[in-house]
Amino acid sequence: MLPIRKIKTRITDLFGIKFPIVQGGMIWTSGWKLAVAVSKAGGLGLIGAGSMTPELLQEHIRKAKRVWDGPLGVNIPLMRGDVEELIRVTIETGIKTVFSSAGNPGKYTELLHENGIIVTHVVPSLKLGLKAEARGVDAIVGEGTEAGGHNGFEEIPTFPLIQRLADHIKIPIIAAGGIRDGRGLAASIALGADGAQVGTRFACSVESSTSEEYKKAIVNSTEPATSLVLRRLVPTRILNGAVASELKKIEAAGVEVAELDKARGVGRARKGLFLGDFEEGYMEAGEIAGDIASILSADEIVQDIVTGYCKTIGSFPLPLE
Ligand SMILES: Cc1cc2nc3c(=O)[nH]c(=O)nc-3n(C[C@H](O)[C@H](O)[C@H](O)COP(=O)(O)O)c2cc1C
Repeated sequence: MLPIRKIKTRITDLFGIKFPIVQGGMIWTSGWKLAVAVSKAGGLGLIGAGSMTPELLQEHIRKAKRVWDGPLGVNIPLMRGDVEELIRVTIETGIKTVFSSAGNPGKYTELLHENGIIVTHVVPSLKLGLKAEARGVDAIVGEGTEAGGHNGFEEIPTFPLIQRLADHIKIPIIAAGGIRDGRGLAASIALGADGAQVGTRFACSVESSTSEEYKKAIVNSTEPATSLVLRRLVPTRILNGAVASELKKIEAAGVEVAELDKARGVGRARKGLFLGDFEEGYMEAGEIAGDIASILSADEIVQDIVTGYCKTIGSFPLPLE
């Protein structure tokens, strides 16, 4: 039983959701099942288009819409070669919320707005946050370097990033990177954000389409759980293990970027996340992986975050003497 029915912030108003909790769009992880489960629980679920063909994205959106007609979004990494196709499918299927990442939001925001779509862009720094705001997006996700998956080159941690964004940006801000429970949500709001985007914890949920091996590796991980690898190419946070060690060694040897690209390989995120191959594949995950102890349903995770948030704000030492 939840202690409250709603936590009202600018992002719950923007997306028409009950709680300011966004499930980050994630390759090989957040298909329609996870996104719908999070949205049904009162957060905002995002289908991750990053690992989908336009046809597969269409199928996932259709399946989601068959069982759910409430808030739901799609994450589109803008560096994809077929980004225009992904956007076309998103518009045609009637999705009204897009989270764009990894690219220039200016190029597509107008088109998305013309189709009645709310646009949120993921940024790793104030500089890119100001750019996204100037290009007209409706909200931003400030993602610190603790986060799983691709990171910015700037390597700015979540705490300074969110305070900095809150000091200079007027549109709603969603904090991401290192947020697992109600304490993280309370901290995000205390820092000036309007809500939190949670990735790794949902990647380790029952409805996540990642392999059982990946989920177990998260549960079994301890500090330091992850490493930021490929820092000069595409900084990527992955679980520690053979692949992380191999990449760190190559990088420390100061090889050329082309050599790093070769070492990065092809299809390794799929191998790690989807097929559970810990020897060959990357297991993208945030540092908070080291504190995730069980595989819960998306509904249980949302309930835990909301309950923990109430407990946290109730524990603040007030009234002041
Ligand atoms: C397995 C995995 C895959 C991810 N894939 C994407 C992606 O395709 N697009 C994107 O914008 N962010 C991606 N992310 C980042 C998440 O959306 C989210 O911002 C991040 O995980 C938040 O930090 P946390 O992992 O500490 O919760 C991914 C993260 C993980 C763990």
